[in-house]
Amino acid sequence: MIKTELSRRSLIAGAGALGLLARPAIGLAIGPAGDQAPAFVDALIARMTPEEKAGQLTLMASAIGGAAASALNPPNANNVEQQLAAARAGQITGIFNGAGSDWHRRLQQAALQSRLKIPMVFAADVIHGFRTVFPVPLGEAASFEPELAERTARAAAEEASAAGIAWTFAPMVDIARDARWGRSVEGAGEDVLLGRRFAEARVKGFQGRGVDRDDCVLACAKHFAAYGAAEAGLDYSTVDVSERTLREVYFPPFQAAFDAGAGTTMASFNEISGVPATGNRWLLTDVLRGEWGFSGLVVSDYTGDEEMIAHGFAADGRDAARLAFLAGVDMSMQSGLYAKYLPGLVAEGAVPQARFDQAVRRVLTMKARLGLFDRPLGRIVAGRERERVRTPAALELAREAARRSVVMLKNDGGLLPLAKAGRRIALIGPFAEGQHDLIGPWNVYGDDKQAVDLATGIRAAVADPKLVTVAAGSGIDAPLAGGIEAAVAAARAADVLVLAIGESSNMSGEAQSRTAITVPAPQQALAEAVAAVGKPIVVVLKNGRALALEGAVRDAPAILVSWFLGSEGGPALADILFGAYSPSARLPVSFPYESGQEPYHYDHKPTGRPNPPGPPQEYKAHYRTAPNEALFPFGHGLTYGEIAYSGLSVGDGRLGGSGTLSIAATVANKGRRAAEEVVQLYVRDRTASVTRPVRQLKDFRKIALAPGESKTVRFTLRREDLLFIGQDGKPTVEPGWFDLWVGPSAAEGLQGAFELVA
Ligand code: NOJ
Repeated sequence: MIKTELSRRSLIAGAGALGLLARPAIGLAIGPAGDQAPAFVDALIARMTPEEKAGQLTLMASAIGGAAASALNPPNANNVEQQLAAARAGQITGIFNGAGSDWHRRLQQAALQSRLKIPMVFAADVIHGFRTVFPVPLGEAASFEPELAERTARAAAEEASAAGIAWTFAPMVDIARDARWGRSVEGAGEDVLLGRRFAEARVKGFQGRGVDRDDCVLACAKHFAAYGAAEAGLDYSTVDVSERTLREVYFPPFQAAFDAGAGTTMASFNEISGVPATGNRWLLTDVLRGEWGFSGLVVSDYTGDEEMIAHGFAADGRDAARLAFLAGVDMSMQSGLYAKYLPGLVAEGAVPQARFDQAVRRVLTMKARLGLFDRPLGRIVAGRERERVRTPAALELAREAARRSVVMLKNDGGLLPLAKAGRRIALIGPFAEGQHDLIGPWNVYGDDKQAVDLATGIRAAVADPKLVTVAAGSGIDAPLAGGIEAAVAAARAADVLVLAIGESSNMSGEAQSRTAITVPAPQQALAEAVAAVGKPIVVVLKNGRALALEGAVRDAPAILVSWFLGSEGGPALADILFGAYSPSARLPVSFPYESGQEPYHYDHKPTGRPNPPGPPQEYKAHYRTAPNEALFPFGHGLTYGEIAYSGLSVGDGRLGGSGTLSIAATVANKGRRAAEEVVQLYVRDRTASVTRPVRQLKDFRKIALAPGESKTVRFTLRREDLLFIGQDGKPTVEPGWFDLWVGPSAAEGLQGAFELVA
């Protein structure tokens, strides 16, 4: 239960003048310090043929492991012998999503037989774990613990690198404000600050103590840029956003990733306001390199260059290669267009030799940074792959990360935690039992068969497993013959129901957009039927996005959001259900009342016709059938404690010059169970020369509170935290009044105000 009370804000005048910022937080961040090419690189380039250069710029899906991907390879690279031959001929820079260190060893040895012995790089989509699978990134973002994401990324890098992988296509740092977009599951949600913090943490985790080390992998911040802003949430569709929104919303997580040292980025599939990202020179060169000083490598997404033909931007493959390359894409993934056309384009003068050499230099520099020239087999050591995966420590981390990712939306009457003994539990729903839909939609190397399901987790936690009955009740998308009847019978014979329903793995992820973000109809029918039995219900949702909950699901007394929790999801959920751990996660995406509210994000702009509190009024901004706000707001999540906020203080009420503003509030746990609370600081700029969001998250802190304990939580607000992109397109702050809130979600909190003075 949350209690808030407003405190008087203090507004004692103070002196100060706005100073120049050493380092603006948006728009002008500087990329990783220039990884200058080692001296041998230019000597090597001087010896390379145009075909060898184009080969260094050509990446292909692996013939082993990435079955679906390699089926789409151009014919010269789609089987083992052809890829080995390409390696020997120096025609391929590396492969991605390959399986196993043996295959990587064979390829590397082949590359070392090539004329110039340039080593290959092995890349992969290591998004949320390798063989040990952690919660999907959206779920992990719900922990509001970037340091947790750093630890899981580190563990993933340790496992993946032992298979020879040196480069991960992660983190995905796209802001996702439209839950219909299936790839919401891969990022950190709708908020810019959360996106920045998780981008930075994941890069640090992947790259560890240095990408030349054998247990580290190079990060790739993707997809640059605004991929999540697809019209109507349709994956791969058009993006048309203002430059201001790019700079304020979509760019900052990339800047955070680059500031943390991410050495590569991936151009996104989408067009941005008429120009595909892959052919967008302004984006990939003027902003990325010119403004931010990024000195790493830009890779296309999978056939992204070729897709510019379908976009209606390139005339043919040759034109697509030219446009992508001149825009700033250094390496082409999967289309083979660079290998096919770049030597000719350079010979004809359509592509400058200097640009050709520059891209090759970036690739060779990346390989040098990875230590591949010194130790081409450094990450490929016999036996290491087996020893380093799914260790007890990694699985324990998977369980910890999973329980820290579960959001408790409701807990009416303190239904949770459940007693471990003496209660008959009916575990109902298509996700109750079975090795399916456990690890999530985008995991190349994990295996549902090695993950622990909910039924197993619950049976291991209760005193008498015989008191647990399981009934699927429904298929995921279709009814199950006799399913509802069996589930109702199980419900009648039980004291409490745990209803495991939601989305399958393949309802989110790449190319999985939904128009209705609801629980599928047959499962909703199951929920209505078992709710009618009248027993207490705990809903455990499986989901890769925000959902619009309806009927008996929405009205259940207890609701847990469990995303896709990975290898140890079942035991982690049992930890929460039976009180071994108090839920501590928060929604990184708003849960709307209805699908039609999407795109929905809490940090929207104010309207000129706000509906006053109370019922809808004519000619004011409101829907006919649904509230404007979210059913469960961004930042929301309950604990087993009883949390109360009080005593807000806002420094001297003035933020001036190069000064800072100290904000403090007291957060108490008045309950009988320990809890962790995510204390959130939001700000609103009341009036500015460019309209500002109704609230923006500026900081957050997760604190542990024993029963009866209270803590003072302090935040420091700086002038640069208030920057926005002004009418002239440059970062600016303007003196004036700001509202602020310290509270448990984007819709609650103690309210205060301060003045920014010139
Ligand atoms: C396409 C996806 O958009 C991208 O995220 C991924 O890294 C590549 N495929 C390679 O698998």
